[in-house]
Amino acid sequence: MQRAKISIIGAGNVGATCAHWAAAKELGDIVLVDIPDKEGVAKGKALDLACSGPIERFDADIIGTSDYADTAGSDVVIITAGLPRKPGMSRDDLIATNVKIVKSVSEQIAKHAPDAVVIVVANPLDAMVYTAWKTTGFPANRIVGQAGCLDVARFRHFIADAIGVSVEDVQALLMGGHGDDMVPLPRYTSVHGIPVHQLLDDATINSCVERAKVGGGEIVKLMGTSAYYAPASGSVQMAEAIIKDKKRILPCAAYCDAEYGVGGYFVGVPCVLGAGGVEQVIEIDLDGGEQALMDESVSHVKDLVSVVQETFPELV
Ligand code: NAI
Ligand code: 2OP
Repeated sequence: MQRAKISIIGAGNVGATCAHWAAAKELGDIVLVDIPDKEGVAKGKALDLACSGPIERFDADIIGTSDYADTAGSDVVIITAGLPRKPGMSRDDLIATNVKIVKSVSEQIAKHAPDAVVIVVANPLDAMVYTAWKTTGFPANRIVGQAGCLDVARFRHFIADAIGVSVEDVQALLMGGHGDDMVPLPRYTSVHGIPVHQLLDDATINSCVERAKVGGGEIVKLMGTSAYYAPASGSVQMAEAIIKDKKRILPCAAYCDAEYGVGGYFVGVPCVLGAGGVEQVIEIDLDGGEQALMDESVSHVKDLVSVVQETFPELV
């Protein structure tokens, strides 16, 4: 059987860690792409990772390159190319630089890997997904953003920690944009089927919600750059669902028009992810308070997209 092919653009912290998780899960062959100045880094990380195969017991061709021709035939492309935030910066501060990067990367993907499903990771996420969609011209189901898998994993971790149970048993839902106004949903959070409200008081649940919302910033303050283990893990969770056509329900930045009344933007919603990319957006019931939080988060996404459109009229 032919192995799947995953191209990861950007061989920095998130990109290299995506390669690591994807190799460890034996998802397929991996192409790690960076700019010509960093080709040595991409090649070196690819070789180093490949040499762990005999120990970790995976078979995969792993190459580093700056030549997009090597991405031809990719089933999935993960875009991590872009600047990360530094302490004191918000994700939104990255917009001008990262639109240029994601636009140039997307042009190459459209040319060399026209059948791929594209998972966008670069920040500010919701605006970068839009940029990749507009630039590639791919159908919206083949462009999807990674944020919710990470954000909900953080929320699940904090809930599990507060109760003192395995993270595996915590199921949760989170929606909205990838900003500090993301919307974790305690009403849709349970622990092995037990509603979380039966296990934790409101104040503790709220502290988990708030910590999840600023979880990225907490790590930036600690490390001086942004997180990469969990972001890469979330990205590879999505890649696995697509490559194995698992039809997993995962929170992803997906194109919503009538859905949730969004009106044609990529925002975080529960999706069915399979070989076709986003195969379905699932609409759940939100109560008045939840809908208000969702509306606020979506309005922030729209503001970000407006900045992209004003700065780069060709992306309207
Ligand atoms: P990093 O600085 O470690 O790596 C970025 C890499 O992209 C560098 O190796 C750089 O040379 C490369 N690059 C820049 N321009 C390129 C181009 N035109 N073509 C190919 N490669 C190019 O940064 P890190 O930590 O890996 O973060 C990457 C991006 O992911 C940032 O924008 C960050 O904010 C974002 N991020 C998003 C998350 C999410 O949940 N959506 C979570 C964590 C990070
Ligand atoms: C995070 O949430 C920076 O978006 C990145 O860690």
